[in-house]
Amino acid sequence: MASLDAMPDGRSKSLQHPVVLQGVSKTYRLDAVDVPALVDINLVILPNRFTVLSGPSGSGKTTLLNLIGCIDLPDQGTIMVGGKPVQTMSDDALSDFRARQLGFVFQNFNLLPVLTAFENVEYPLVLAGMAPDKRRRRVDKLLDAVGLATHARKRPGQLSGGQRQRVAIARALARRPQLVLADEPTANLDSRTGAEIIELMRSMQQQQRVSFIFSSHDPKVLEAADDAVHIQDGRITAVERRLAMAEAQT
Ligand SMILES: Nc1ncnc2c1ncn2[C@@H]1O[C@H](COP(=O)(O)OP(=O)(O)OP(=O)(O)O)[C@@H](O)[C@H]1O
Ligand SMILES: [Mg+2]
Repeated sequence: MASLDAMPDGRSKSLQHPVVLQGVSKTYRLDAVDVPALVDINLVILPNRFTVLSGPSGSGKTTLLNLIGCIDLPDQGTIMVGGKPVQTMSDDALSDFRARQLGFVFQNFNLLPVLTAFENVEYPLVLAGMAPDKRRRRVDKLLDAVGLATHARKRPGQLSGGQRQRVAIARALARRPQLVLADEPTANLDSRTGAEIIELMRSMQQQQRVSFIFSSHDPKVLEAADDAVHIQDGRITAVERRLAMAEAQT
C-alpha cells in the first residue's frame, strides 16, 4: 500500500482544534415522553488522536457523534468543532463546514450502489468542483492507500463488507477533513475483518494527521485507541487518555 503524504496540503497540526463540549444535553421526545439521551456532557477530545466512544447500547454514543458531526444540535450547552461554535453557524455555513472539514463512516457503509468504488470516493470531490485530472490522482492514491487499487471498478455489491468499509474510509478522507467520525464502523463485520478495519483507520489517522472519533462497544476495539471516552446512560463515566500530551505533539 502506498503511503499518503503526511501533510498533503501543508496544513499545520497547530491549526487542528479539539472538540469541546460544555454542559451539553440532548433529550428526545417520543410520544410525549422525554428520553434524556445526553446529560450535562463536559468533554474535550484532542486533535490528531484516535478516540473511541465506548458504552453499552442506548448509552448515547450515536447521539454524541451526531452532535459532534453537526448533524443534530444540542438542547443545551455549547459545542466547538474545528474551532467554531456550532450553534452560532447558519445552516449553509454548517453544511459547508461539514462537507469540507468532516468525514463520516457508517456501520452500514452507506455507499452509492450504482457507482463503482472509484466513483464513490470521487463523488465528494466532484461536488467540491475539483478538476478531473486532480480528482483521478487523489482517488487512485486513496484507493491504493486502503488496499483497493485493483478493485476500483467494482460496485459495492461486488465487494465484501470489509472492502466496502475500506471504500467508505477512502471517501471520508477524500476532501482532507480535520476530523473523521465513525459510528460503529465494525459492527457489521466479523471480528477479524473488524480488526483489520480498525488497523486501517488507525494507520490512515496517523498518515493523514486527522482526528478520528469512533464508537464501539467491542472491548477489543478499545485497546487500539489513544483515548477512550466511556459513556453510560447519557453521562461520561470516565475519560482515559493513554497517549501522553508530549507524544501527541510529535
Ligand atoms: N430519534 C430518537 N427518538 C427518541 N429517542 C431516541 C432517538 N434516538 C435515540 N434515542 C434514545 O436516546 C438514547 C441514546 O441513543 P443512542 O442511539 O445515542 O445510543 P447508542 O449508544 O448509539 O446505542 P447503540 O450502541 O445501540 O447504537 C437511547 O435511550 C435511545 O433510545
Ligand atoms: Mg448507536
